[in-house]
Amino acid sequence: MSLRDKHIVIGISGSIAAYKIATLVRLLRKAEASVQVIMTQEATQFITPLTLSTLSNNPVYVDYYDQKSGEWNNHVHIAESADLILIAPATANTLAKCAQGICDNLLQAVYLSAKSDVCIAPAMDLDMWIHPSVKNNIQLLKSYGDLIIPPGKGELASGLVGEGRLAEPEEIFQFIEDHLQANQPLKGKKALVSAGPTYEAIDPVRFIGNHSSGKMGYAIANQLRKLGAEVTLVSGPTALESPEGVQRVNVQSAAEMYAACSNSFQEADITVMSAAVADYTPIEVADQKIKKKAEDFSISLKKTTDILASLGAIKKSGQILVGFALETNNELENAKDKLKRKNLDFIVLNSMQDKGAGFAHDTNKITVINRQEEILSFDLKSKEEVAKDICDLIIAQLSK
Ligand code: CTP
Repeated sequence: MSLRDKHIVIGISGSIAAYKIATLVRLLRKAEASVQVIMTQEATQFITPLTLSTLSNNPVYVDYYDQKSGEWNNHVHIAESADLILIAPATANTLAKCAQGICDNLLQAVYLSAKSDVCIAPAMDLDMWIHPSVKNNIQLLKSYGDLIIPPGKGELASGLVGEGRLAEPEEIFQFIEDHLQANQPLKGKKALVSAGPTYEAIDPVRFIGNHSSGKMGYAIANQLRKLGAEVTLVSGPTALESPEGVQRVNVQSAAEMYAACSNSFQEADITVMSAAVADYTPIEVADQKIKKKAEDFSISLKKTTDILASLGAIKKSGQILVGFALETNNELENAKDKLKRKNLDFIVLNSMQDKGAGFAHDTNKITVINRQEEILSFDLKSKEEVAKDICDLIIAQLSK
């Protein structure tokens, strides 16, 4: 299996087995994965960052702050970008820190910020491996959902023979490949996501826009891609970076967004319209910058095409169409009405009455209503977590 578009973050802690990671990085790169290595200070005693940056074709991060480039190594971004985080070799010390939530180096901060699955490959001497405190920590890590790649038996660096050797690079590679493959329920599916605001030009320098950041749509596109879908992201103007492996189509206006979405919709198995599309656009766009003259000034607007409703009107059976509703009042009734009017499979409701929900926040609180008018309420979560919930509902809908 090719691991193209998969981004693996590897955290190396201070064990003699660190040298094996050079081979693992080569195997991952050969399978076309992108690899980001993070090391603890201790790990750099066992294998040089230069070896790993050369093999991974990426800078290796050790500290929060890179003295040379003056750059801040953002642990949240590193964690967010990962399709999988692997900690290998994980020493008894690193295991304990992960189990207890201790955050005294970049690797630990990335572990605590993980959004993806985390695999941990321990390596230590046999007596350490069977110590009850280590066993307890392993149980704790499993209870958090981390996956343990068990150590092998054999000769240890201490000269003792027993269990504790880091799994071989080929075994770790196989584990990663199997895990990523098993987590691809949307493999072979095409998805279309709209995100961000639209800008409706008034003249060459002014526009009518809105405060949508695009974060929710980008998180959904990223999650759909992680689950194996081939994703087209039609994006209004945002400051966000494209999620890796997603095909992004940049648009400005509602009309451009309509054209781009119509282009991809026929092929799409899953469509999620999370963009905040302008409902009205100026009837005329001035060729030159409008000068201020009169005391009062008004712009005549005309309705834009409702993209979601137009797609709903031509939706074929088997296609899944999801819309959003941002409401300030009469939320449930308005959302139910949109669900029916636009022929959706389900609608994701954001209420402006919920704190931390809606535009610009990193969090969101959603209520989902389906065609049977069942209402599912979710807690306030990060937009990545919300994206996972929405994708779970899509997967459930596909298997109906
Ligand atoms: N939408 C769209 N095209 C438009 C307007 C909205 O595709 N021209 C989509 C949005 O992407 C969202 C859903 O319709 O998924 C609901 O958008 P919203 O603005 O809440 O609803 P409207 O239908 O515009 O209704 P109203 O403004 O009256 O609340």
